[in-house]
Parts: sequence; structure tokens; C-alpha cells
Amino acid sequence: MPFAHIVGTGSAIPQRILSNADLERIVDTSDEWITRRTGIKERHVAMADNHESTADLGSRAARRAMEMAGITADLIDMIIVATVSPDRIFPSAGCMIQREIEANNAVAFDLSAGCSGFVYALEMANNSIKMGQSRNVLIIGAERLSSVTNWQDRSTCVLLGDGAGAVLLSSQEMAGGILSTHIKSDGRLWDLLYADKGNPPLPASLEGITTIPFHLKMEGNRLFKQAVPSMANIAEHALAQNGLRLEDIQLVIPHQANLRILQAVSERLTIPMEKFYTNLQKYGNTSAASIPLAMDEAFREGRIKRGNHVLLVSFGAGLTWGAAVLQWTI
Ligand code: ACO
Repeated sequence: MPFAHIVGTGSAIPQRILSNADLERIVDTSDEWITRRTGIKERHVAMADNHESTADLGSRAARRAMEMAGITADLIDMIIVATVSPDRIFPSAGCMIQREIEANNAVAFDLSAGCSGFVYALEMANNSIKMGQSRNVLIIGAERLSSVTNWQDRSTCVLLGDGAGAVLLSSQEMAGGILSTHIKSDGRLWDLLYADKGNPPLPASLEGITTIPFHLKMEGNRLFKQAVPSMANIAEHALAQNGLRLEDIQLVIPHQANLRILQAVSERLTIPMEKFYTNLQKYGNTSAASIPLAMDEAFREGRIKRGNHVLLVSFGAGLTWGAAVLQWTI
């Protein structure tokens, strides 16, 4: 069986930065509270004038991944877009991105698995490559969470951000690449985090975001308590499946929800925080985009080297959670 290797990564973030100080003017909160409880300092918000729809951001991230890989769009067999905030109910963000990047030989679709969407997509792509059904698969995590955020709810609006990340996977005979993927869900707890409505249009200005009628609801405390053991247990399972010890992992790229969750997972796993890549300080929680966005930054910053073992671990709405073990080969 062939192996699925990551051959390119890319990301894209909206230009407009919304700092904790900006949020102090929108809801009753403070930079001190947000930083202490979450680690987040700022996030990016998509604006119409900047052409920053979910599909725009996803297309930009995808192009960067293809450029890095030196693979042209006509060679892409499949596009999977992990998202909870597509621009339209239909068609999929996948098909919109397919048109934008002119990947006319691909099959494109969206995958909805909350913040774990990217790890779910990795499993689908890996299986398709291993079965010989695809040679080149583009996985994109793209989100415009500002479109489903309740800007009057201080307990959630301070957490979320917009952005996109992409990876290009290619079939190769050489061992390595995606070593294993593990995904789980528990629908009994779906009402701990949900959004009801379709996405309204991009706002014309920052003021516009506060008037969006919409609605995301979250029980943060209960989610926190679910997230920590779920992430730690599935990460341990993933390592055991590959016969790897904790010290064999050079970098953990977790879903970027909250620094305190990551510190608790780090303690449970006894993997030091220095091995956890975090960029939630700059972007907040970008749901399905957070892992590929972090992976692209980590690789471009030189934090991941050829031969390194990288552990991905996620948790999100659904509830969903997952892990993957990679051996980096670029
Ligand atoms: N600014 C100031 N005060 C606030 C804010 C805010 N933005 N938000 C809440 N508070 C207040 C509350 O009203 C409460 O006040 P009270 O004590 O007078 O009632 C107090 O702060 C404490 O609130 P808690 O909700 O208990 O605070 P907690 O320490 O649990 O932190 C948080 C809240 C950050 C949401 C945390 O629970 C969390 O991160 N949970 C996990 C959420 C998560 O991981 N979601 C993502 C998983 S799924 C996905 O990624 C989409």
C-alpha cells in the first residue's frame, strides 16, 4: 500500500486584527480576563472589502500549499474542506474553492466535524490514498467564525477567530507521512456547543460584525472538562498504536482553543509545553482551520524538520475529537 505524505502546507488569515482592547469596546470584558483565562491576545476578522470569504481564505491557503509542493491544480484528485462556517448552505466551500483554484479534475466536498474537522479530513484523505483511489489530495480547514459569533455574548465572542490552513497530501511508495489517524465523536453532548443559523453576508466594516443576528452557544466549563481527558486519552492511544514513546514526539500541534486546556493536556501526557506549538495568542480559536494554520506556521518557522514525529490532537463541537501521528518528510 502507498503512504500519504504531506508535500505542501499553506495558510491565509484576514488582514483586520481585532485585539482584546477592541473587544473591551464591544462587550464587558478586559484584556486581563481574556489573557488569563484563554491566552488569546488578538484574532483576525474577515471583511468584505478584502475578499476574505471562507472560500477566498481557503483558496489562498490551498495555493500556498500547492506552490510549496510544486504540484499544479490539474493534478489534484480530491479537495476536502473541513469547515463549520461555509459561505453558503450550498454549494460546498469545496466546490467554490475548486473553481477558484481551477482544480478541474478533482472531486470536492465539505466535512463538518467542528474543530476536529481537519483530523477527520486527514483520515479520509489517508484512506483514499492508501486504497489507490487518489494520488494528490488537498485538505483545507477554512473558517469565518465571525459570521456565527454572537457579538453580545462575552463568554464566547472573545474566543473565536477567522482563518484558513491547507495541506497537500501525495501518494508515495516510501514509508512515512501519515502513520495513523484516530477519530471519535459523542453526539450525546452536541448541545454543549452549537450554532443555529446559516451564515449572513460579510460585514462591510468592523461595526457591522456587532449587528449580525446570529448565534453560537457554548457551555465553556463543561466543554473544558470533556476536552482535557478526551485529548489526552486519544493522544496516548495514537502513540501506543505506533509503538512510540512520549519522547519520540518532537512537536505536538493541538487544536488551538484555550492555553489552559493545552497546559492541562500537557500535564496529563507529561509532554512539556515547549513541545506544544501554540499560535492561539494571535488567532484565537479558528475551529477546523487551527491545526493546518499552526502546522503551516510551525513548518515555515523551522519548528518541524524532516524525520520528526508530529502529533496532532483535536477536540470540538459534536462532540468530536481525534489525533494523528505524522512522520514529516519535507
Ligand atoms: N470577560 C470577563 N468576564 C467573563 C468573560 C469575559 N469575556 N466571559 C465570562 N466571564 C465571567 C463569567 O460571567 C463568570 O462570572 P461569574 O463568576 O460572576 O459568574 C466568570 O467570568 C467565570 O466564567 P467561567 O465560564 O467559569 O470561566 P472559565 O474559567 O471556565 O473560562 C472559558 C471560560 C474560557 C470559555 C473556558 O471555560 C473554556 O475555554 N472552555 C473551553 C471552551 C472550548 O474549548 N471551546 C472550544 C472547544 S470546541 C471548539 O473549539 C469550537
